[in-house]
This record gives sequence, C-alpha cells and structure tokens, in this order.
Amino acid sequence: MSDTTAKLTLGGADTSYAVRSGSIGPDVIDIRKLYASTGAFTFDPGFMSTAACESGLTYIDGDEGVLLHRGYPIGQLAEQSSFMEVSYLLLNGELPSKDELAAFSRTITRHTMLHEQLATFYRGFRRDAHPMAIMCGVVGALSAFYHDSTDIADPHQRMVASHRLIAKMPTIAAMAYKYSIGQPFLYPRNDLSYTANFLRMTFGVPAEEYYVDPAIERAMDRIFILHADHEQNASTSTVRLAGSSGANPFACIAAGIACLWGPAHGGANEAALNMLREIGRPERIPEFIARAKDKNDPFRLMGFGHRVYKNYDPRATVMQQTLREVFEALKINDPVFDVAIQLEEMALNDPYFIEKKLFPNVDFYSGVILSAIGFPTEMFTVLFALARTVGWVAQWNEMISDPEQKIGRPRQLYTGPVQRDYVPVDKR
Ligand code: SDX
Repeated sequence: MSDTTAKLTLGGADTSYAVRSGSIGPDVIDIRKLYASTGAFTFDPGFMSTAACESGLTYIDGDEGVLLHRGYPIGQLAEQSSFMEVSYLLLNGELPSKDELAAFSRTITRHTMLHEQLATFYRGFRRDAHPMAIMCGVVGALSAFYHDSTDIADPHQRMVASHRLIAKMPTIAAMAYKYSIGQPFLYPRNDLSYTANFLRMTFGVPAEEYYVDPAIERAMDRIFILHADHEQNASTSTVRLAGSSGANPFACIAAGIACLWGPAHGGANEAALNMLREIGRPERIPEFIARAKDKNDPFRLMGFGHRVYKNYDPRATVMQQTLREVFEALKINDPVFDVAIQLEEMALNDPYFIEKKLFPNVDFYSGVILSAIGFPTEMFTVLFALARTVGWVAQWNEMISDPEQKIGRPRQLYTGPVQRDYVPVDKR
C-alpha cells in the first residue's frame, strides 16, 4: 500500500491527511482527524464518496463491471463453485479443501432445524402477511431462543451464530411460504444439499416424496451465489451499523432484512417482475421507457441502474444465462421473457440510459427466473435475504474482529432553528 497525503486549506489554515491505497481500487483519504483539526465535518449524504470501513471480502469495479469475492471473479464462482463453497470462502477467506467443505456442509446441515416453539411464532401472523415482514420478525426472535450464541466477544459463539443464521434462513423462508399458502411445514432433511433441502421444504408436501430437478437446484444454487455479498450496500451497511453498537447477530441480520426490503434495494426484483408483467407485451415498452425518462414521473425501470455499476452488472450476465437454462428445463414460453429481453435491448440503445450509464442489475432477470421456478413475487426478496445472510454475517464478523472497530455515529449539517426560548401556550 503506497501512502501519500492530501492537503486541505480551510479558514486560512492548511491541514493534511494520509492517503491510503488498498490492494486494488480507489485510494482513500483518512479524514478521521478532520473534525478535530478543522472543526468542520465532511458532508456526504448517501455516502457517494465515503469508504465506511476496510474490508477484504468483496471488491467491485463499477466501471469495468468486475465483482470479486476474496479475489475470485463472480463469473467463475457462479460457473464452477457452489453456494456452500462460496459461503465457506466468504467466512474463512480461502476456498476449502474437499474435507473442509464436507465438514462445513455437515455443520450447516446440522443447524437447519428451528426451535420447535418458533413454528408457533408464525401462527401470530395473518396468512397474507408479506413474507419479508415474517422474516424480520422471526429472525429477530432467534435471539430469544439461541442465547448460547449471542456473546459477540466470543469468536466461537460468533461462528455458531453465523452457522445458525446461514443454516436456518432456508427453513425460515420455506416456512414463511408454506404459512402463506396454508400448507404444513416440512422439516429439513440432512441427506439433501443446502439448496435441494430448501426447494423440498418450499415445494414439497408431507403426502408424497418431492423430486428435486437437478437443473432447478443448480439454477437456484447459482442465484444464491450471485446474491451472497456485495461490498458495503445499504443492507450490509445496516448490519455493520447495528453490529457496531454490540447488538447480537440475530438482531443485526433482522435489521439488514428490513433494509433489504426497500424497492430501491432488494425489493427491486419483486418490483421488476411486476413492472414486466404490467408492460405485458413488447409493443408497450416505448411507453414505459418514456415514463422512466420523464422527470415529472416517479416511475423508474426497476432492475436498472446501480450506485456502483456504471457498466453491466456481472451478475445480470450470469442471471440472463440462468434464465435461458431454466426456461429450457421447464419448457416455459412466457411473454414476460420476451418483454425483458427487448426492454433491455431498447434501454441499452437509448441515449438517456447510455448517458446515465443505466444497465440491468442483478434484480432485472432474477424475478423472471424465480417466477418460472414457482415462487410468488412476494418471496423474491426473501430469497435475496436468504442468500445475502452469508455476506451479512461475514461482514459482521469482519467488523467485530477489527481491533479499531468503533460504534458508528455519523454527524450532520444542522439547518434547524437556532436556540430560542419556550413560549407558554397562552402567549402563542
Ligand atoms: C440492488 O448497492 C448494492 O450493491 C445493491 C445491490 C446488492 O447486491 O446489494 O446490488 C442490489 O439493490 C440493485 C439495485 C436494485 N434497484 C433497482 O433496480 C431500482 C431502480 N434503480 C434505481 O432506483 C437506482 O438506479 C439505484 C437506487 C439502484 C441507484 O441509485 P443512485 O446511485 O442513487 O442513482 P440516482 O438515483 O441518483 O440516479 C442517477 C440518475 C438519476 O437521474 P438525474 O436525477 O441525475 O437526472 O439516473 C436516473 C435517476 O433519475 N435513474 C433512473 C434509474 N435509476 C437511476 N432512471 C430510470 N430508471 C432507473 N432505474
């Protein structure tokens, strides 16, 4: 890392700050002493130019459309790895040996069951509750059941909590779906892979054996890989901020789920499919592109644009390939696929989208695939949260084990009233 300095002149005084380089990517100006030195804050709502932490997990180059997990390109991981192996990589920093992977998978498998009383927790929700509301509630409630893994100062307890969260998310997600359709919950099965187990708990019934289509299992596993982690996105930053106060891991992940739910973030996959269905047929695409460009219309093309990617989201590339494979495996002929392909083509050739560097993101195709597999749109963000849990817990562990970690406490530019005296009500 090459260090230089950045100079600032403010109020006639010069101050300088160390400039640090990472292994790759933009340098950072270390401004931790800026307020003490100048009495001024930096101002960066939305954190457009702010590195909130140091991390070795995921690197994104938005201009080049590059996404690396611990240095490995997402395209290679999606093609050659598995979600269990990527989970091990994110948590431990290196690809596992065959034995390490088998041991890790066994550990995760043996944490997939939920405390039996949590099943009654679901009964408190309406059947039509949005499954993301259920996820927020049930995941937050895990801290009421697993007290033996909430001491964040104990590395062993942190890893047990991490394994529990990764393992139980598929069970919790499948139960949320079953509850919404009035079918009985299925217990996990230890003879199935992580992803096959999830598909069976979601689509299987106690009345008969459930056959897991290998093509669908592979597609689902790849979708989990594509959603595993993504640097300091809004929900990951939420998990880090919640964790910085010392909150237990279950509460932190529940906070991440709540943030992911927003349509500008993880809720975009549900919004994108709803948009494609509303467009309905290719002839209506120009009308919607015009609306997306109209400053007076709040409508945006859901699944397009990204804070970091100003090039094609590399996950969208893999997602489009996966879509073709799923449609072929399931012999599906849905006009929404044609609408998606033609919408992308028209938007990518439109000056507005070109100038603003708006490309399809990971959410543009995922909803079409998940719908084809059989998930209702309300489950899409649940699946995003299921996969992102490994990224959230890996980022949380990285933060907690950072010796320089402090509670996150941003300041503000205050523009409210200056001090004034109270006026009794009979004098107002
Ligand atoms: C995810 O951060 C992550 O890594 C997130 C994520 C992850 O893995 O964690 O990648 C997952 O959240 C993907 C993004 C999913 N969201 C959507 O698809 C919703 C639609 N996209 C937008 O709302 C928007 O693009 C954001 C929120 C994704 C990014 O917003 P920014 O970076 O704050 O950019 P912006 O809103 O300032 O937009 C820049 C310009 C604006 O025009 P001007 O005001 O400059 O004239 O581009 C326009 C916007 O109006 N614009 C769009 C648009 N997205 C941005 N115009 C039409 N359609 C869009 N989708």
